[in-house]
Amino acid sequence: MLLHFDDEALFAGSLAQATGLEARQVHRHRFPDGELKLTLPVPLPSDVVVLRSLHHPNEKLVELVLLADAARALGVRRLTLVAPYLAYMRQDKAFHPGEAVSQLIIGRLLAERFDTVLTVDPHLHRIAVLEEAVPARRAVALSAAPLIGAHFAGRMPQPLLLGPDAESERWVKAAAGAQLDYAVCTKRRSGDHDVRIELPDVALRGRHVVLVDDVASTGGTLIECARRTLGAGAARVDAAVTHALLDAAAEARLAAAGIQELVSTDTVPHASNRIGVAALVGNALR
Ligand code: R5P
Repeated sequence: MLLHFDDEALFAGSLAQATGLEARQVHRHRFPDGELKLTLPVPLPSDVVVLRSLHHPNEKLVELVLLADAARALGVRRLTLVAPYLAYMRQDKAFHPGEAVSQLIIGRLLAERFDTVLTVDPHLHRIAVLEEAVPARRAVALSAAPLIGAHFAGRMPQPLLLGPDAESERWVKAAAGAQLDYAVCTKRRSGDHDVRIELPDVALRGRHVVLVDDVASTGGTLIECARRTLGAGAARVDAAVTHALLDAAAEARLAAAGIQELVSTDTVPHASNRIGVAALVGNALR
């Protein structure tokens, strides 16, 4: 059985179709004081998949704790979490004394409740594999990068894929595959909204450039990268991300910075969603 919440019915439907699982909705009641009550469909089978993409994660993490512990109490033996976007992966060390290492704390919270955690393009920078952040029995990191590459592969003239920082190299390289050119910039961040980009030593004049990253949030990284790329003479700049966490204001800033088209996958529902990942996730689940 695939359990989902009302706001993810669309993705749940695609995933149910891709896997043959029966999709059932968890009912959520909010009390006047803000607390939540969840009601699970009963009876539950012994093997349950929970879908919860963790953008705006704080309340959803409470939902997952309630849901997982209630499912166990109802006899579920094997619990799988499908979190197409896995939050809190970027704070992977204490950059300043006293900072909580959110990646490990949230990873452990999930691993203690789910036998398997499956996600798409988690932000793993200083660690090699997802298991190090999410020590579940099985932690599976899929990548949408090849789907992003395929989306742009047929375009003429052929685009150059450009990653904004060293961390993006794994995604931009996988998106480019053998068919597209790619290069990677250098980024220095000095605040949530303050990033500086150095371009790589490649000819950009007259080229169609697609900026590729795992996530866009404030849009600051893509905006600065677009500014430098257009300044270097690129003919057109588009952007492609796996997880579009931007709000409408950030999206408008991207357009104002000269980014013509923003493309994203549907790991996070967004107006820029052009690439579906349900089949990718469904294959992995099967
Ligand atoms: C960080 O290294 C990520 O890969 C993204 O580049 C970053 O999180 C994007 O954030 P923003 O859109 O706020 O610049």
